[in-house]
Amino acid sequence: MRAADISDDISEVLLTEEQIHDKLAELATQVVADYDGREVVLVGVLKGAVMVMADFARHLPVHVSMDWMAVSSYGASTRSSGVVQIRKDLDTDITGKHVLIVEDIIDSGLTLSWLLENFASRGAASVEVLALLRKPDAMKVEVDCRYVGFDIPNDFVIGYGLDYAERYRNLRDVAVLAPHVYS
Ligand code: XMP
Ligand code: MG
Repeated sequence: MRAADISDDISEVLLTEEQIHDKLAELATQVVADYDGREVVLVGVLKGAVMVMADFARHLPVHVSMDWMAVSSYGASTRSSGVVQIRKDLDTDITGKHVLIVEDIIDSGLTLSWLLENFASRGAASVEVLALLRKPDAMKVEVDCRYVGFDIPNDFVIGYGLDYAERYRNLRDVAVLAPHVYS
């Protein structure tokens, strides 16, 4: 049996790999200027932010450390449950550190607002957020996100780390999932 092509499950490419890389380079320049020599702990939110972290971090010409957190807010569905649970905590003590949370997407904002509160309670010197994507029409809570790559329409998207039922993370672009896949 032959595995099906990913391209059959896409209705539209929203952002190409090149657009994404250009944007991450731009955000990296901003981050370097803003932190002005203060060392940052990049915290990637697994698993969706893996690609963003890998590409964004390599645009930084300064010292950073990287850590990862895994939280659950989505199962194999396309809607936020609003329930956040830590599946893997940080290995780093972030007390007194400048933390930059690296996210793939802000949808309802529930995951991030929870994370921001959680990190603040650990005594970080500062906590900011970088998200490649944001869906303004889906947001249920206000979250302060300093670095946003792209505002996108309220469609379920896949690719560049983003999954549907664990598939499509390996797609290079960000694309809209074809409705035949989930309906
Ligand atoms: P909330 O709603 O809490 O969602 O802001 C945050 C997390 O949900 C996942 N998410 C998506 N994953 N396509 C995906 O593949 C999407 O369109 C989508 N919207 C939300 C994602 O992991 C994000 O960190
Ligand atoms: Mg995520």
